[in-house]
Amino acid sequence: MVKFTGYKKIKTAVFISGTGSNLKSLIKFSKIIKSPISINLIISNNPEAKGLKLGRINNIKKKVFNFKKKYKVENQILSILKEHEIKMICLAGFMIVLSKNFINKFRGKILNIHPSLLPKYKGLNTHQRVLNNKEKYSGCTVHFVNSKLDSGKIILQKKVKISKNETKKSLAKKILVQEHKLYPKAILKTFNL
Ligand code: GRF
Repeated sequence: MVKFTGYKKIKTAVFISGTGSNLKSLIKFSKIIKSPISINLIISNNPEAKGLKLGRINNIKKKVFNFKKKYKVENQILSILKEHEIKMICLAGFMIVLSKNFINKFRGKILNIHPSLLPKYKGLNTHQRVLNNKEKYSGCTVHFVNSKLDSGKIILQKKVKISKNETKKSLAKKILVQEHKLYPKAILKTFNL
């Protein structure tokens, strides 16, 4: 992992596809003194992503890419990351699966948040599958990204209890609140802070 010396924050890029509420919580976290990271770049595959407006508000550079030609685009992104001296990547609701080639170039430096207690319920439509299986608990996980979907080493998890009349929507909302707390904690943990 990248070493945090306490002098300079580690320049970080956040990749999003949608609302960006995790991005918002990471930006807030990055501004506190004890944060080892600064958010210097926002990357999205979706020009309509609501979270992009956080770039403007917080004066963070943002870039949107069309991932149709994934390999080519990933290489473009890699050079932009280099240009901006980005040393760490946080995926936050980013709906594209990055290639092995890309991940290997940032090995051990890409984190993701997933709304389930991994290794259970990898992939999409998590909350509905959890409810269908009548689980008593669900939660969220921050993990390192490797080339297999939602399968990298787990950094931290938070469990939440499923209520009697839980719906997909209420569960998503409940877990999201925890995600916003968990991601910063997991980042601190990766730096042994
Ligand atoms: C979160 O639930 C995250 O775990 C999942 O997608 C959602 C993104 O939410 N991967 P937001 O864009 O951060 O609000």
